[in-house]
Amino acid sequence: MPKPSTAYRCETCGAQAPRWSGRCPDCGAWNTLTEIARGSKIRTGRAGADLRSDSAPSRLLTLSEVEGDREERHSTGLGELDRVLGGGFVPGSVVLVGGDPGIGKSTLLLQAGAHLARGEPVIYVSGEESPLQVASRSRRLGLACENLSLLAETHLETIIPLIRKARPRMVVIDSIQTVYSDLVESAPGSVTQLRESTAALVRLAKTTGSALFIIGHVTKEGAIAGPRVLEHLVDTVLYFENDLGSRYRIVRSVKNRYGAANETGIFIMTENGLREVRNPSAIFLSSRLEGVSGSAITVMREGSRPMLVEVQALVDEAQSMPPRRITVGTDPPRLALLLAIFNRHSGQSVAGRDVFVNVVGGLRINETAVDLPVLLAVWSNLTDRPLPHDLIAFGEVGLSGEIRPVFGGEERLRESVKHGFTKALVPRGNVSRQERKEAGDLRIVNRLDECFLAVESWLASG
Ligand code: TYD
Ligand code: MG
Repeated sequence: MPKPSTAYRCETCGAQAPRWSGRCPDCGAWNTLTEIARGSKIRTGRAGADLRSDSAPSRLLTLSEVEGDREERHSTGLGELDRVLGGGFVPGSVVLVGGDPGIGKSTLLLQAGAHLARGEPVIYVSGEESPLQVASRSRRLGLACENLSLLAETHLETIIPLIRKARPRMVVIDSIQTVYSDLVESAPGSVTQLRESTAALVRLAKTTGSALFIIGHVTKEGAIAGPRVLEHLVDTVLYFENDLGSRYRIVRSVKNRYGAANETGIFIMTENGLREVRNPSAIFLSSRLEGVSGSAITVMREGSRPMLVEVQALVDEAQSMPPRRITVGTDPPRLALLLAIFNRHSGQSVAGRDVFVNVVGGLRINETAVDLPVLLAVWSNLTDRPLPHDLIAFGEVGLSGEIRPVFGGEERLRESVKHGFTKALVPRGNVSRQERKEAGDLRIVNRLDECFLAVESWLASG
C-alpha cells in the first residue's frame, strides 16, 4: 500500500504524527497539529547558515587543560540581574527572558543595555516598538546611551550581518516571536521559525562573542510561546514573575549554564523604571502591625537568598459546611494536612471553623519550612494571642506532630538576627553551636506542642 503523502506537525512541540488528531500525542496541546508534506524537510539548521563556526579541528582535552581560566563576566549595571545571571553575563552567552506582556522585560533590558552602552556598543533590535517609542522611553527613564543603537528590524538575514559587522558587547532581541528567516517556509511566529531563528542567533553569539538577550512571550500556561526546544538552545533561561498585581517583580533563572538555577533577583516597578530591591526582608516586613494575633514571621529562601516574610492566618466560625480552608501563597492541599496535624497535636482544634492563610506581599512559598509558621499564625489567631514581635520560626511539621529540619537553617537564622529578631523556634539539626550562642533566645523544638508551650512561656514572661 502506498504511504499517504501528508503528515502532521505540532506547532507547540514540533512532534510529528502520521494522522491528524485534535490533541498532540506528544505534548497534549489542543488544535496544534498542522498538515505538512511527508518527507518535506524544513531546511533545519540553515537559517543564517553563512555563520559557520571557524573553530579548530576537534581534539581531546584533559580537564587540567581547560580548567584555570574563569569566564569573563560583565555587569549589566543592575546588581539583581547580575545575581540571577550568576555574577554578570558571559561574552557569547545567550539568555532567553520570558514573562507576561507588560511585566517589564523591555524595560529591564533597555536599562541594562543603556548602562552597558556607556562604555561599549550595544544593539537593541526591536520588532515590537518603533525606534521613537524606545528612544522616548529611554529618555523618560533618564538613560544616557551614546553607544546604544536601535534597530527596527524583524528580518533575520538583515539583522545578522549588521550585528556581525558592529560586534557589540550586547544585543537585545525584542522579541523572538517577531523575527523571521527567509530560509524557513513557515510563517513568522511558528515553531519552526522560532527554532531556526534562535539557532541562527545562538551561532551568531558563539562566533562573534556578543552576548545575546532574547525576549520571549509567555503563553497563558506560563511556558515561553513555541517549543520548549528554545530553552534547550540557549545557555540561560530567565522568567519574570509577579503575583497578585503587586509592584514587585521576581526574575528567576530556571536554567543557567553559567550559574545556579533557581536564583532570583527582586525588583520593584516604579514610574522611573525597575528599581532593585537589595534588602527584601526589610521591605516585606515594613508594613507589619505589632501586637496583632494571627501573624507569624518566617524566613523563606528565594534561590540562595534567605528572606523574612510575614504569614497571616484568620480563623473564623464556619459560614457553611464543610468549613473553608483557603491559602494564598502556600500549598492548598498542605494546609488541610497541617490543620489535621494541628487538631491532633496542639491541644486546640479548628474543626467547624473557616481558616484563611496569606503570605504578605504576594509572595509564594513552595517549601515545607513554612509549615510551622502557618500553624503558629493559626494558633495565635484562634487563641487571640499575638506572638512575640521579635519571634521567627521555620520548620517542616510531620504527620506525628514532629518538627523536621529544613534546608539552609543557619543562613535563615543569620538573616533573622541581622534584622533584630531575638527569639526563634528552630528544628533540631538546623543550628550549629555557634549559631546557638549568637541567636539570642533560641528554642530547639522537636514537637508541635513544645512550640506552643515555648510561646506561652515567652508571653508569660512579658
Ligand atoms: P514593558 O517593559 O514594556 O513590558 P514587557 O516588555 O514585558 O511587555 O513594561 C511595560 C509596563 O511597565 C507598562 O504597563 C508600564 C510599566 N512601566 C512603569 O510602570 N514604569 C516605567 O518606568 C516603565 C518604563 C514602564
Ligand atoms: Mg516589551
